[in-house]
Order: sequence, then C-alpha cells, then structure tokens
Amino acid sequence: MPEGSSPSRLPLLTWLCCLALCSEGANPGFVGRITEKGLDYARQEGVAVLQQELAKLKLPDFSGSFHVKVLGNVDYNFYGLNIGTFQLPSSSIAPLPGVGLKVSITNAVAALTGQWRVKKRRWFSDHGSFDLKVEGISISVGLKLGTDGTGRLTAATSDCGAHISDVNIHISGRLGWLYNLFHRSIESGLRKTMEAKICETVTSAVSSKLMPFLQTLPVTAKIDNIAGIDYSLTSPPVTTNNSVDLALQGEFFSMTHRSPAPFPPPALSFPVDHDRMLYFGVSTYFFNTASNVYFNAGVMTFDITDSMIPKEFKLRLNTTTLGAFIPQLEKMFPNMLMVLKVSPSSAPLLRIAPESLSLTPVVNVQAFAILPNSSLAPLFVIEARAPVSAKVGVNSTRIVGSLKLGRLQLSLKHSDVGPFSVQLLQAILGYSASSILLPQINAWLAEGFPLPLLDHVELYSLILQPYQDFLLFGADAQYKP
Ligand SMILES: *[C@@H]1O[C@H](CO)[C@@H](O)[C@H](O)[C@H]1NC(C)=O
Ligand SMILES: *[C@@H]1O[C@H](CO)[C@@H](O)[C@H](O)[C@H]1NC(C)=O
Ligand SMILES: *[C@@H]1O[C@H](CO)[C@@H](O)[C@H](O)[C@H]1NC(C)=O
Ligand SMILES: *[C@@H]1O[C@H](CO)[C@@H](O)[C@H](O)[C@H]1NC(C)=O
Repeated sequence: MPEGSSPSRLPLLTWLCCLALCSEGANPGFVGRITEKGLDYARQEGVAVLQQELAKLKLPDFSGSFHVKVLGNVDYNFYGLNIGTFQLPSSSIAPLPGVGLKVSITNAVAALTGQWRVKKRRWFSDHGSFDLKVEGISISVGLKLGTDGTGRLTAATSDCGAHISDVNIHISGRLGWLYNLFHRSIESGLRKTMEAKICETVTSAVSSKLMPFLQTLPVTAKIDNIAGIDYSLTSPPVTTNNSVDLALQGEFFSMTHRSPAPFPPPALSFPVDHDRMLYFGVSTYFFNTASNVYFNAGVMTFDITDSMIPKEFKLRLNTTTLGAFIPQLEKMFPNMLMVLKVSPSSAPLLRIAPESLSLTPVVNVQAFAILPNSSLAPLFVIEARAPVSAKVGVNSTRIVGSLKLGRLQLSLKHSDVGPFSVQLLQAILGYSASSILLPQINAWLAEGFPLPLLDHVELYSLILQPYQDFLLFGADAQYKP
C-alpha cells in the first residue's frame, strides 16, 4: 500500500488541511512588504556574495586525446584550473507573481589559469601553462520563497540556467601548431563543465548563504519575563507584480502561559507605496495583544504614595490634607498617610485612525489609609477615564512609543468615608497620573520592542503614517556586516 493512503495518516492529513484553511482565514497582525526598490537592494547585496562564491568555484581536471594525422592519438591533460576573477557587472531581479523571484545576470566574465600537458607515447611530451578568458556568461536563477513548519522564511533555487557565449584559451608553448588542433574541443568541454559548475555554485550559495541569512528573521522575540512577540509567518510569502509580501503573526504572548488573544486581528488595507524599500503594517492587534498580556500578568497596577510627591507640593497624600475635601476622613483616620492603588479595569486598547492614535483606559483608583500597624483601611474607589493620545515611532531596529494624558474624568464608585465631591481630587490625581505614572510608562515604552529584521539590517529614512486600524512604516534598509 502506498504510504500516503495508509488509513492511520488520514486524521493527520485532515488536521493539517484544516490548519491550513483556518490560518488562511486569519488576518496577520504584522505585514512586511519588500518593494521593487528593496528587491533591487537585495539583488545588489546578493550578487556581491554570489560573485565571491563563484570566484571560489573549483573546476575539475580534464583529459582526453585527439587524433593528429601521421602521429595518431595524442593525450592531453588540463589540470590545476584556478579562477582568478569572476565579475558580475550587470544583473536584474524581477518578481514572478505567485511563483517567486527571478534573478538574471548578463555579460559576466571570468579569467582562469591552469596547467596543461600533452603526450604521445614515447615520441614526445610537452607541458606549460594557459590563460582562459570566459566571456558573455549569463545566469538565470529562479528563487522560490516559502515558509517552514515553524513559520520561518525559506528560499530555494527553483531553476538555474547558465550559458557561456565565449571561451578563449591562450596556450603558451613551443608546439603552437599542435595546440591549435585541439583548442576547440578544449573550449567546448570547458564551457559545458563551467556552465554546470556555475549552477551548482548558485544552488549551494542559496542553501548555504541566503537560506541561513533569511532564517535570522526572528520568529519569536523575547521582550522580558512576561512577554514575547510571535513574528512567525502565517503563510508563505506572496509575490505580486511589484512586491514580496510577508504575513506575520505579530502577536504578543505570555511567556508563562500562552493563550489565544481575546480578539481577532483586523483586516489591513495596505496602500500602494513604492518610495521606500520596506513597508511594515503594524495593526492594533500587535499593540493590543501587548496590552492584554501585560494586563493579565498584573503589572499594570501601580501604588502611589506620599513619598513620590515632591516636597514643595502642598497637597499631601495624607488624611489631614485630604480631610479638607472629605469631611469624615480626618475624624475616622486622623493624621495617617495614604496610598492610592491604581489599575486599569481592563486591558487598555489602542485605537488607530488616520488622524490619531488614542486610547481611553478606565482606571480604578483605590484609596487606603495606612494604619499605625501598617495594615490598610479602604477609604474610597474612584473611576478615572483617561483620554490618552499615543505616539509611535521607529528607530533603526525598534518600535518605540510615548503617551500623553488629557484631563481625567472622575467619578466616585464607592466610599467608606461618606460622600464628597471627587472634582476636589482632580489636582492630586491629575498630578499623580501625569507626573508619577506616565513617566514610568513612557520610560518603558521608549525602550520599545524589536522589529522583525534580518541580522545586520538597519533601517533609515523612516516614514510613518497611521491608517484605519494600523500604522504603516516605510523605511530603507542597509545591510551592515
Ligand atoms: C501584473 O502584470 C501582468 C502582466 O504585466 C498584468 O497582466 C497584471 O494585470 C498585473 N497585475 C497587477 C495586480 O498589477
Ligand atoms: C499631612 O500633611 C500635612 C501638610 O499638609 C502635614 O503637616 C502633616 O504632617 C502630614 N501628615 C502626615 C501623617 O504625614
Ligand atoms: C491593625 O489595626 C486595626 C485597627 O486598629 C485592626 O482592626 C487590625 O486587625 C490590625 N491588623 C493587624 C494585622 O494587626
Ligand atoms: C533604538 O532605541 C533603543 C531603545 O530606546 C535604543 O536602545 C537603541 O540604541 C536605539 N537605536 C538607535 C540606532 O538609535
């Protein structure tokens, strides 16, 4: 029975098919696009590497015999072939929609040197060196981009053709008339050998140089002990007429217990833009899975204490000062320091629209009096709605951000110290939020998160444009080995 039709394999196959279909439906959280300009830069860098590899190409010795009138068969042997230079002066790259990429190299030239020996049994022998010029080399390579089981980028040579139009051998030696008799057969033999060797070298350069390089594109980026980013490809790269598009998961996940995000990625309508080599579409999904993971890890809870408020500030975080606004406070808890426990009631979600980036976290502020025995007595709970505008930027390798806070809208949710007007606390809460909490959050956002980039690749000439539900970054890239 053929292996593929074995009954025990069917469930696995069904499962794999389902997996493929299911994942096709989901939108990526992060999209990468390489434009023609980017492909052209990749071509330049790639061809430079290929040129070095071709210069290391090893040609086999070859030998044979040829027939000369009167003399009969003469044996020849060419050995020690060594490539001096291999130049690839002109090349181009073109996307083949739905297939991959095609790299064409034309008018390449190579210069070789080597040793020769001819021998007619017992009659005579001669040896010397030769120079060989190989011109009009054209190479055409098809590259197929794909993804492996772990969502890494892969590349393979789908086809390779090499053609040499001109081989000129210059043999130095005494018996010039003799060499002219066989140089044609040498030239055509060399051409065939070299054409095959070129494609062998191209194929091995793709698997030993290009492939490991592409695999440096991270599929996960650990941020800290709490979160990592899943940058795995959700489907194989798609080649269109003028770009290669990569769909990445673009999802933050918990390092301790990964669970599916409670919301799906939105669809991104990617604009057509060609000025930069690379474009990244970063959807709200990316930012909001981050928010969700950090919220669930409980790290969005902050304590605000009196010691954090500068000395010159006359409003203190104690029951005496706040007793002026909350009549019962000082009676019930005379002359005690207080603590405010601040935490969002749910993971704050970023909204991205063409005109703005904003979020409106709903934050619970729980106030406690610190009793003489250090235990906490609950005082009241205020709900604060905080209009926040966000800025996101990229530097050469990371996404960074910062937040700016608008005026808090306060409402009293619960009080153990009688009714009072929350507006009177606007100043101290506003100060706590904008001067104590926000700088901590912004310092953390300024550290940023790593972009999914290949090793030694840095971005410059960055542009940034918000669209509905995603940010578009454009950048040129530079490979800095
Ligand atoms: C891609 O190019 C082909 C041929 O040049 C053309 O027929 C096709 O309409 C193009 N597709 C897009 C999406 O531009
Ligand atoms: C509370 O603040 C007032 C100043 O407004 C200060 O005189 C008093 O000592 C403070 N009380 C405590 C317990 O820190
Ligand atoms: C601290 O003091 C309060 C009131 O004085 C009391 O109710 C509470 O049980 C004490 N807590 C501890 C841990 O001793
Ligand atoms: C990019 O930002 C990160 C975090 O702020 C910083 O560590 C890094 O040095 C920056 N890189 C450049 C090239 O400015």
